[in-house]
Amino acid sequence: MALLEIKKAGDPILKEICKPVEKIDKRFRNFLDDMAETMYASDGVGIAAPQVGVAIRACVINVDKKTRYDLINPVITKREGTVIGNEGCLSCPNLFGDVERAEKIRIEYTSRFGKKKILEADGLLGRCIQHELDHLDGKLFIDIAKNITKERNKEGEQ
Ligand code: CO
Repeated sequence: MALLEIKKAGDPILKEICKPVEKIDKRFRNFLDDMAETMYASDGVGIAAPQVGVAIRACVINVDKKTRYDLINPVITKREGTVIGNEGCLSCPNLFGDVERAEKIRIEYTSRFGKKKILEADGLLGRCIQHELDHLDGKLFIDIAKNITKERNKEGEQ
């Protein structure tokens, strides 16, 4: 496995609409593992492929240090409620902001072994999924946050 370079806000790849993943093979799974290793090394809870310079629809998430989700071609199929919480991003070091997200979502995605999956999520996982899926459409949280601070708002959700 290898650590990948994390692209920072201002890099044009972070504004791209990413392309669907077409081929899921061992090489691609290795790429997902490299993304995960890069995320863990930076103490992140989620990372999207464009953040490491590849404009494809894939992200890796692990919000509880137990369950890792590799989401390939994910699509939100249901949204319920709204909730505001504090977010940060590996591409925007030392910036935090309150962002309104759906309280609960359902997504459809393809697993790292090519299986179709459905996942319902709320709380930190739901927030993180919405944040990472925004990356796949060229959106950063700093563009939609209600406020930007240099310290995390401890009262907000991570
Ligand atoms: Co991010």
